[in-house]
Parts: sequence; structure tokens; C-alpha cells
Amino acid sequence: MRWAARSSRAIGAVFALACGPLFTLACGVLGSDEDVDLDHLVQIPRGFPPMEVPDHNPTTPEGVALGRQLYYDQRLSNGGARACADCHLQERAFSNPAASGVLAHVNLAWSRYFLWDGSEEGTLEDVMRFEVEEFFQTDVERLREPDLEEMFQAAFGTPEITTERAALALAQFQRTLVSGNSPYDRYMQGDRSALSASEVRGMKLFYSERAECFHCHATALFTDNLFHNIGLDAEVDGTGRGAVTGRRIDDGAYKTPTLRNVAVSGPYMHDDRFATLEEVVDFYSEGIVDSPTIDPLIVDPRGGGAQLSRAEREDLVAFLRALTDEGFLNEPAFGPP
Ligand code: HEC
Ligand code: HEC
Repeated sequence: MRWAARSSRAIGAVFALACGPLFTLACGVLGSDEDVDLDHLVQIPRGFPPMEVPDHNPTTPEGVALGRQLYYDQRLSNGGARACADCHLQERAFSNPAASGVLAHVNLAWSRYFLWDGSEEGTLEDVMRFEVEEFFQTDVERLREPDLEEMFQAAFGTPEITTERAALALAQFQRTLVSGNSPYDRYMQGDRSALSASEVRGMKLFYSERAECFHCHATALFTDNLFHNIGLDAEVDGTGRGAVTGRRIDDGAYKTPTLRNVAVSGPYMHDDRFATLEEVVDFYSEGIVDSPTIDPLIVDPRGGGAQLSRAEREDLVAFLRALTDEGFLNEPAFGPP
């Protein structure tokens, strides 16, 4: 809304100007040390790695507006019965408590593997092409309506509607779904009142060798964007990443989900087996099951896990809850157009 409400020529001018001296989306890679704020188009939070943007699909206000429209538009699905946003709910960090195994859409611009088993690989453009062409089997005839033609024209210069263009626009919208303003971030930026004593204790545990959480839920993204078998099951033959790569060593391994906004993105794990964060932390504490491909970073798999005290488990859960970015969950520009 915020972008649409202003004249796109004015935003275009701001965008073109910014393309000179600053790193910008249109020019390649966004800087990581500074907050880059192109009229709220995309902000890279402090401490995040640079965001890579393919030269052939620069992020523009018109492209983002089209991507957002398509994300919320049931005409995109072949039968016309569903939109991306029917399963991916903003207030749940674009996850869904009711549909099974839905992955959140949080900072996916930094991912190179998509889906729990990483079977889609590449850029956001690549995974969006899969979503449009294979998952939704979009019928472009359904999209050939005046309102959308106008938006495709604005985004790409001609009214031509193709699944490729739909994928490009969805990727642009997805690139704006950046979350990095939780109480934890405010604490890291110097606001010592942003976290409670319990949350600080939980944070220290998270980054300790005792719990080892930070190795995989790594960097400011809270994910290494790789695959691990964390010890959910004893029997892992041919499951998870292993089913994609055919390598035994990958059996039972799944994509590390970001922990940003994890308090609202349950149920948890690829098969939704845990309903609450308390259950997840209990699992890492004493529910680990050993198997041949279990990740070496999992603490004491033979003994069932990290063996945290009740108070430690409460602190850890409190810290995970402090990764919720209310601004992200309520940002009008990410909601229905
Ligand atoms: C019927 C519910 C449903 C709909 C509709 C839906 N998704 Fe998903 N989405 C899922 C589920 C479930 C997963 C996880 C599937 C898996 O990993 O095997 C997922 C995963 C994803 C991922 C991967 C995220 C990651 O972290 O790897 C992306 C990207 C995505 N969806 C985009 C979209 C887009 C774009 C649309 C609309 C074109 C869409 N989805 C429509 C249920 C849905
Ligand atoms: C060896 C890497 C690794 C370590 C260490 C690790 N995790 Fe995870 N975590 C993962 C992976 C991979 C998944 C998804 C597993 C699956 O679904 O099969 C996951 C899932 C989760 C989830 C569920 C997220 C969701 O959206 O479903 C939470 C919460 C979580 N981990 C918290 C923690 C905490 C807290 C610790 C420290 C006690 C920790 N993790 C240690 C890799 C790791």
C-alpha cells in the first residue's frame, strides 16, 4: 500500500538516484554494514550478509507490487482455488499452523536451497519458477485480465504475461521479506533493556558449547542454510536430503530453518512433530535419538542430548521467543494488496 500510494515515477527517480553512489538492488549486491533503505523497498539489517540480486531481475517498486499481487491472487493457481498466501500466512511468518510442513518465508533471499530436502536449488527466481510452473501449474490465460496486464506492463515494460515474468515478480516480492528487528536485535544494537534476564541467560546458552545451537542456527540469519540430521529418528534410510542426493551421509538431514519468528511459526520440524517450543527444547535436552548419519554437532546423541536443567530450558525458550519481529509480522507492505 505504502508504495502503491505514491507515484511510481517519483519512486523510480529515488531508485535511479540511489543506484549511483550506493550499492543497490538494481546494481548487484547490497552492503551489509549499513542499513540501506530505498524508500522501504528493502532494508538489510545490520550484521546480515550482503544480499545478492541477479542482474537480470533487479528489484523495482513495480515488480514488487506485481509479485505481491500474484502472491495473494488465486488466479495464479491452475484451478483458481488457492493463492500462495492461503498457506503462507503473514502473521505466522508466512508459515501455517494448519497445513502440514509449511516453511516460513523469512529472509529467503539468502537461501540457496529450498524446501525441506533442498530439492529446489539456485536463486529465488529458480524456486519461484518451480512454484509457478510445477506446483501451481499456472495457466497464463487466467492471468490475462486488464488489471494484471497493467501491472505486468508497469513491471516489465510490456503487458505480455508469462509464467517466467510471474516468477521474476514473485522473487522480487520475496526479496523484500526481510526480518531483522526483534528484541534480540535491539539488544545487540545496545538497548540493554530489550531482553529480560531470563532471555539473556537463554541467549548465552544458545551460543554456548553446552547447547551448540548457534553452529547450525548460525549468523544473524539464525540458519546456515544447510542440511543436518539432528536425531529425530533412529531409522533414516533414504529420507530427507539423502533422497535428493542419493548419498547415504545425507539420509535424515533436513534444511535448517531460521529461528527468526519461530515463536509464531509452529508446529515444528519437517513433519510438524512438535507443537510447542518447549517440546523442541525438551527434545534437544533429552529426546535425541542416535543414528548412523546424526550430525557431529548434536550434543551427546548417545545420552539423549544436552541434559539442560528445567530453568535452562525455560531460559532457552524465552530467548527463542525474543526472536519475534512484530514489525515484520504486521508490515502492511507484506500483507494483501
Ligand atoms: C497448499 C499449501 C501451499 C501453498 C498454496 C503454497 N505453498 Fe509454499 N510451501 C508449502 C509447504 C508445505 C512447503 C514445504 C514443502 C517442502 O519442503 O517439501 C512450502 C515451501 C515453500 C518454499 C520454500 C521455503 C524454504 O525455506 O525453502 C517457498 C519459496 C514457497 N513455498 C513459496 C510458495 C509460493 C511462491 C507459493 C504460491 C505460488 C506457494 N508457496 C504456495 C505449502 C504451500
Ligand atoms: C546440527 C545442527 C543443529 C543444531 C546443533 C541445532 N539445530 Fe535446531 N534445527 C536444525 C535442523 C536441521 C532443524 C530441522 C530438522 C527437521 O525438521 O528434521 C532444526 C529445527 C529446529 C527448530 C524448529 C524450527 C521449525 O521451524 O520447525 C527449533 C526451534 C530449533 N531447531 C532450535 C534449536 C535449539 C534451541 C538448538 C540448541 C539446543 C538447536 N536447534 C540446535 C539444526 C540444528
